[in-house]
Amino acid sequence: MEKLKNGYLFPEIGRKQLAHMKKYPDAEVINLGIGDTSEPIPRIITKAMAEYSLGLSTMEGYRGYGPEQGEKELRRAIAGTFYRNTGVKDTEVFISDGAQCDIARLQLLFGSNVTIAVQDPTFPAYVDSSIIIGQTGECADYGKYNRIEYLSCSPENLFFPNLSSIRPTDIIFFCSPNNPTGHAASRNQLEQLVETARRNGSIIVYDSAYAAYISDDSPRSIYEIPGSEEVAIEVSSFSKCAGFTGVRLGWTVIPEELRYSNGFAVHKDFDRIICTCFNGASNIAQAGGLACLTPEGHEALQGVISFYKENASILAETLSSIGLQVYGGQSSPYIWVHFPGAKSWEVFAEVLEKTHIITVPGSGFGPSGESFLRISAFNHRELIIEACNRFKRFFK
Ligand code: MLT
Repeated sequence: MEKLKNGYLFPEIGRKQLAHMKKYPDAEVINLGIGDTSEPIPRIITKAMAEYSLGLSTMEGYRGYGPEQGEKELRRAIAGTFYRNTGVKDTEVFISDGAQCDIARLQLLFGSNVTIAVQDPTFPAYVDSSIIIGQTGECADYGKYNRIEYLSCSPENLFFPNLSSIRPTDIIFFCSPNNPTGHAASRNQLEQLVETARRNGSIIVYDSAYAAYISDDSPRSIYEIPGSEEVAIEVSSFSKCAGFTGVRLGWTVIPEELRYSNGFAVHKDFDRIICTCFNGASNIAQAGGLACLTPEGHEALQGVISFYKENASILAETLSSIGLQVYGGQSSPYIWVHFPGAKSWEVFAEVLEKTHIITVPGSGFGPSGESFLRISAFNHRELIIEACNRFKRFFK
């Protein structure tokens, strides 16, 4: 814990927002910081949760503990919806209370005696959980921790790292579409990733939490790549595709073919971890998850995802039109804006002071995020338009 340099990124930003609101009590602060969904969950999904919930007050509908791995029906629906034609079986899907919680449980499984690689920049939970479990050395040059392999992703390499020169590590955390850059790795790039893991004996932890935002033919899952079942775990979530940031529901896939070098199945150990550390996801949330995967639920969600994607294009077009270098936003709800030569916390502070808009400083996602800001498209349309007007006035 002593090696951690700061508090976790998003609560730190929350504190800055509170301080700003105290300083300017009359300002209308627009939050384009943490990626928190803003639009209502389609009624077909909340109705399923409400009915399940009311059923809990009846003798017939009452349920206590469920299986730690999740309800069979939901595991089957996830395998059939997100992993059709990939060979993923329902018994390989573990339902959880969210991808971030599963990342922590995976770190508990891996323990302190492993090395990790991460995209740089990336979602901060991989690095912070690695520090907490004791996998890293001290924080050294440029805010990089010893024993972590940072895979730089920048405009120069089109946000995909050069895998041919990386130091082999036991684990590779890989998020696609990447949070924060918005880059969705292509099939060819994911083939390189799988090939690298196979060559180096690494396990990939593939985070597909933003897969629903992919606009092109990039793979939605690592299991679209042949051979990945022997080297990859996938974590994912209903948060960003179904507005479940508060409801809490996610899943992790561990294929039976994934083995340690001694031949033992990783699947069995993860099962042991979740039975010890988790009592299963809320049964009400799981009823909602099941409703998301009915044809009607799935269709209703596409409308919400399209709405956020339109927000992202409005933001990206506005920021490009005022001459900023803008990335992401096509296959992701995040816009990644470059301010060459500037310090991202300083840009964050100036934007907040002058526009009352909360963003996220790029360096919070890793050293290569320095001089970038991440802007989230999760907000109501009128606030996105108001934010664009404020950006136009500020950057003109
Ligand atoms: C973010 O990057 O804003 C995150 O997605 C928030 C989270 O899911 O923890």
